[in-house]
Amino acid sequence: MSDVHVIDHPLVQHKLSMLRNKNTTTQEFRNLIREVSTLMGYEILRDLPMEEVEVETPLEAMKTRTLAGKKLCVVPILRAGNGFLDGLLQLVPSARVGHIGLYRDPETLIPVEYYLKLPDDLANRRVIVVDPMLATGHSAIAAVERVRDSDATDVKFMCLVASPEGIANFHEAHPDVPVYTAAVDRMLNEHGYILPGIGDAGDRMFGTK
Ligand code: URA
Repeated sequence: MSDVHVIDHPLVQHKLSMLRNKNTTTQEFRNLIREVSTLMGYEILRDLPMEEVEVETPLEAMKTRTLAGKKLCVVPILRAGNGFLDGLLQLVPSARVGHIGLYRDPETLIPVEYYLKLPDDLANRRVIVVDPMLATGHSAIAAVERVRDSDATDVKFMCLVASPEGIANFHEAHPDVPVYTAAVDRMLNEHGYILPGIGDAGDRMFGTK
């Protein structure tokens, strides 16, 4: 059984429905995707390690829990992955950010890398690779390969909408990397777009079409 977490919280699903609507404006789309990424971030980070500490309330001393210091790195796949960045950084402002620039060759749908900049201490961090669409899975596979080449061992992948084909391809390449998504849609079309999907996430986010 493949490690896929569908986040079906009502707020996430409500906002996803608005993102799917073709009449949603660029400004609304951008705001919604930021809000959804914060909500999804709660789920993705729910297993962060904690440690017991002692604090003094105004009334007495007590033992309580804080984050155990596991550090985070968010890695958006350019360009649409950037839409998830602000929402996640709102939850963890001290997180590092790496960038991977990949575009899909329109003929072959194979990802071509044009930019790579990662922090040099990924071995000590939880790495969340983010891209709104897990379509063919090729870009996600390549991006996770890059972070693993940089010694990351604790890696998760976060998207908004996944295709069944994308999940299968991704988990064939990286069976141990969990996928967090708000929906698994019906299928890919012949151009590599997810049906019913949300359209081209980058174009809708940046108003380029
Ligand atoms: N990328 C997108 O932006 N949308 C899709 O449906 C597939 C890939």
